Amino acid sequence: MYKPHIRIEDLKAWYGNGQALKGITADVPEHQITAIIGPSGCGKTTLLRCLNRLLEEAQATRVSGHVWLDGTDIYGPGVDVTEVRTRVGMLAPKPFPLPMSIYDNVAYGRRIHGLQRTLDKGNGRNLDRIVQHYLQAAGLWEEVKDRLHDPASGLSTGQQQRLCLARALAVEPEVLLCDEPTSALDPISAQGIEEQLLALKEGTTIVLVTHLLRQARRLADHIIFLWMGELVETGPAEQIFHSAQDERTRAYVAGNIG
Ligand SMILES: Nc1ncnc2c1ncn2[C@@H]1O[C@H](COP(=O)(O)OP(=O)(O)OP(=O)(O)O)[C@@H](O)[C@H]1O
Ligand SMILES: [Mg+2]
Repeated sequence: MYKPHIRIEDLKAWYGNGQALKGITADVPEHQITAIIGPSGCGKTTLLRCLNRLLEEAQATRVSGHVWLDGTDIYGPGVDVTEVRTRVGMLAPKPFPLPMSIYDNVAYGRRIHGLQRTLDKGNGRNLDRIVQHYLQAAGLWEEVKDRLHDPASGLSTGQQQRLCLARALAVEPEVLLCDEPTSALDPISAQGIEEQLLALKEGTTIVLVTHLLRQARRLADHIIFLWMGELVETGPAEQIFHSAQDERTRAYVAGNIG
């Protein structure tokens, strides 16, 4: 058995009049990797963006239902959206480093969120330690430790994605949402990101959108399988890949559709 970190309950989402999610109910277990899989256009990105209230940033979107984060509904009254997004971070498909140095990219999240954790207190040396810690957690430290104050734009795409991972982690999210995080990367860089995600789940709950079945097989502990905005099946990866209940799930994981 697992402890749910997030419970999604009857979640519906619309873009204008078009309904993209049709009442999704599923769990995201704590300190596991949950993969959201399904054919293109089935609602994976939409569902992911509902988990930190990012969907409402797009025009004419509407959401109903509940997303319980550790027992608190992030769609409930009086919720602080900034706090939700601090607790639930996001890694986008394409790296978008901020136009500043490598060091400042990682320090940025700490500064903007005004986080006053014990490590932050005192002088700049502590911030140095924090930046080093998260660059190490993202598997980038060795490659950049001698050029921390160079512009981030000088890094390769794969390095930029790991920098974005370090920046997301520096805010210390409980949950990290990743939307096709390796789609813009070469195979070696993609493998680097996969290894970091596996190492991170010790302390972080990860939700991964991927259209790569092999990636889902390598990384996922838990699966949410969507089809045209509906939840077809959800459960432990082992069960979904080897003894799925629904014919559509069996066909999809066999690679016959999608
Ligand atoms: N900004 C938008 N405006 C209108 N419709 C949208 C918008 N974004 C997504 N949709 C529609 O919502 C549905 C779900 O889209 P979503 O991007 O969540 O799918 P996805 O599973 O992530 O697909 P992909 O694998 O191609 O990334 C699709 O029918 C899509 O056309
Ligand atoms: Mg998508």
